[in-house]
Amino acid sequence: MADAAPPRRLCPTVLPAILTAMLLSGCGEGAGSGSAGESAEAVPGEVVYLRYCYSCHASGAAGAPRTGDAAAWADRRARGWDALMASTLDGLRGMPARGLCRQCSDDDLVLSLGYMLQRSGGLPESAPAGLAERLEPPPARD
Ligand code: HEC
Repeated sequence: MADAAPPRRLCPTVLPAILTAMLLSGCGEGAGSGSAGESAEAVPGEVVYLRYCYSCHASGAAGAPRTGDAAAWADRRARGWDALMASTLDGLRGMPARGLCRQCSDDDLVLSLGYMLQRSGGLPESAPAGLAERLEPPPARD
């Protein structure tokens, strides 16, 4: 009945992986510069979303409407894309201007907002033409 290999050895293996993930995610520094390179393979909008918007919109911190909670977004979406984009750029009460991403271009923010709305009941009809296509994942590489 003796267990030959207790799962002790996990620790040294997993810890460096976590540290690497933290380093790669930048812990809040230097994201969304709009440079090609690092975000090239991600779903458009995802990198900025995960680095900035996620910190409040995943948990609902400070009263943020949660990503995925279509009901929480319904009234906001009904106000139309331009109103939501204006709040993203200028802030609104607990929502900080540009979601705290100073390096983000306006287009980075368009994509991150689109990414979030697509997962929260869908893009409003007033979303910019072609945005849904731009949010599609890049084609898989062989
Ligand atoms: C520091 C926390 C925080 C971060 C980071 C954050 N948000 Fe928000 N966001 C909020 C809060 C709080 C609200 C609710 C504001 C209210 O209605 O009082 C909100 C609301 C919004 C709304 C709805 C605005 C409206 O007009 O109804 C949009 C759109 C939005 N956020 C987009 C984003 C995007 C895009 C990002 C990332 C680039 C982001 N947010 C990052 C806290 C945050």
